Amino acid sequence: MGRANARIAPNNIFTPISTPATIVNHLALFVLAITSAIFVVVAGLLAYAIIRYRHRPDDDGQEPPQVYGSNPVEVAWTTLPLLIVFVLILVTARTIYTVQAAPAPADALQVRVIGHQWWWEFRYPTLGIVTANELHVPLSDPAHPTPTYLTLESADVAHSFWVPRLAGKTDVIPNRRNHMWIDPHVAGTYLGQCAEFCGTEHALMLIRVIVQPRDQFQRWVADQQNAASAKPSVQRGQQIFAATACVNCHTVRGTGATGHFGPDLTHLMSRQTIASGAALNTPANLKIWVRDPDTIKPGALMPAMNLPDRDLDDVVAYLATLH
Ligand code: CUA
Repeated sequence: MGRANARIAPNNIFTPISTPATIVNHLALFVLAITSAIFVVVAGLLAYAIIRYRHRPDDDGQEPPQVYGSNPVEVAWTTLPLLIVFVLILVTARTIYTVQAAPAPADALQVRVIGHQWWWEFRYPTLGIVTANELHVPLSDPAHPTPTYLTLESADVAHSFWVPRLAGKTDVIPNRRNHMWIDPHVAGTYLGQCAEFCGTEHALMLIRVIVQPRDQFQRWVADQQNAASAKPSVQRGQQIFAATACVNCHTVRGTGATGHFGPDLTHLMSRQTIASGAALNTPANLKIWVRDPDTIKPGALMPAMNLPDRDLDDVVAYLATLH
């Protein structure tokens, strides 16, 4: 765990490492430059007027000459803002088009992102992989881009997928498919967050994107494609897991557990965190989680299983073998 977390890249909207985020960042800086210039001019004139025409002891108490209308001035302060807004519209439209209209290369990795209260499901249809909360994607070399295209859907309410260093936010809406893409240029673990209020645990609907060099990514894919292999030493835990409501919500590929309401647990231990990033994935935290999920994430939709202590230990021992 320590090793995995040491590589978490600091979150900073000003240091994009993926093309859509870079393009949006450039637009934001351009808009900031224009609006800053407007601010300096307006605030400067205001400060000048306040100081130059402040009240003085020898004022004669008369009103200054009143001016009613000036065509040149009115034309200027109508035209100039119109021009500025027009430039901003054009540049913004070009940015949106560049990001949204980029066609997916034939060999682009496709991932289905499904928002749930309060976790993320990631499905790789072409690779036969299902995982949760931690999206693995290959590093993209700018000279030979290998982007990842995301199709975003919701299983319940509106969410929003946002990993600031990789791309802008994309809403995740029931009965609708939205699309976005990323092509991260730097390997590492990038943090994100659901960005649309979606209920009690919206704030703990976290995202991790793990960007790996191609060979590491291929190894991860190969590991994920294996079915779960249970060890005889944890057979009792597996039997308890199979005999309780766990299997109604969770899938462990290669076993009778085929539920779809909660995260796929086939390779649970390959993930750095549990509960959508709310806690590190350690056996101790797993035990707290299975005993009573509300301890870690109040309002979580997973019920407390109320297992006797010995059964709880055995189920956690079983889960801890799902690598
Ligand atoms: Cu999902 Cu906020």
